[in-house]
Amino acid sequence: MKIRDVEMTAFCDIISERAEKANHEYAEGRGKVFKDYRELLKEDLDAVCVLTPNISHAPISIDALKAGKHVMCEKPMAKNYAEARAMLDARDKSGKLLTIGYQNRYRPDSLFLKEECDNGVLGNIYFAKATAIRRRAVPTWGVFLDEEKQGGGPLIDIGTHALDLTLFMMNNYEPAYAVGTVYHKLNKDKKTGNAWGDWDPKKFTVEDSAFGFIVMKNGATIILQSSWALNTTEVREAVTTLSGTKAGADMPQAGSLTINGIKNGKQYVLTPDLKAGGVAFYDGAAVKDSDLEAQTFAKAIQGKGKLYVQPEEAAVVTRILEGIYDSAKTGKPHYFN
Ligand SMILES: NC(=O)c1ccc[n+]([C@@H]2O[C@H](COP(=O)([O-])OP(=O)(O)OC[C@H]3O[C@@H](n4cnc5c(N)ncnc54)[C@H](O)[C@@H]3O)[C@@H](O)[C@H]2O)c1
Repeated sequence: MKIRDVEMTAFCDIISERAEKANHEYAEGRGKVFKDYRELLKEDLDAVCVLTPNISHAPISIDALKAGKHVMCEKPMAKNYAEARAMLDARDKSGKLLTIGYQNRYRPDSLFLKEECDNGVLGNIYFAKATAIRRRAVPTWGVFLDEEKQGGGPLIDIGTHALDLTLFMMNNYEPAYAVGTVYHKLNKDKKTGNAWGDWDPKKFTVEDSAFGFIVMKNGATIILQSSWALNTTEVREAVTTLSGTKAGADMPQAGSLTINGIKNGKQYVLTPDLKAGGVAFYDGAAVKDSDLEAQTFAKAIQGKGKLYVQPEEAAVVTRILEGIYDSAKTGKPHYFN
């Protein structure tokens, strides 16, 4: 989808053919192509999207902000909290906008649930489960398996989406402590049954599963479950389950939602129809979450709207993930001071 008033004019990749390909795909070959992002930043651009591996999210975003560009950086915000804070500092000094690619927030189920949470329908949310579980879907391309370049495996890659959704719904960004466990149980397997083909065990240095028990300062508990490879049939990703004092919410799968509670002395489960629809022959025009994400960023730059993903929130997600990794390493709870 083309975003109104937005033109993509410059593309960069250390592998030139990839930048060329993007130029043809998104600018009909009319854009400029670069191999070094610092050269791209010299161009007269309003905004830059940072879509590189996690190791370069912070340095490229910071350089882009210093060059006076608004930045949309892919998730996770950074490899660790120190880098995320440096990005916030750079944002403050630049006076430009910084946002992070948590597009699951723009799904119809997420938008509906956020409104319910903000309107107090769930009451005080004191228990939540953030889930990102794959049975065998290890990303085998790029550098996803490389600890040094990515900072971790499924926890930082997909657990990040589930935790972001959960904190956003709870509107709670004050963690007290986290206990984490990290597993390297299946990454040496050879006949893997993986959705994207067998992985190379030698390259697979990140965890294959990670789990966290997070206690917030107000006493709320969040259980975070993430895996790229786990012996289970309960496959769900980028979803949250919330239990509040007035009602609860489940996302059986990304894109679907139920609200549960008690009404007139009876248990009820509400399943909102998240399609536009309402006519026999047409389901309504669905807007893709990634398109809504791009539109929202463009409008915020033009001063016509607000960012939907604040980088301060994304920094807390990164902070908690780092705490879970740290707890798994030390075997002790990680306290957030
Ligand atoms: N929001 C989402 O759901 C979502 C989905 C997929 C990927 N991502 C994120 O996007 C990022 C990239 O993932 P991907 O699947 O596209 O990986 P990828 O390996 O397919 O693409 C990354 C590209 O970055 C290029 N690159 C690496 N370092 C660079 C540098 N310094 N300057 C310019 N180009 C550089 C690589 O050559 C490669 O072409 C990751 O951080 C990932 O977490 C987010």
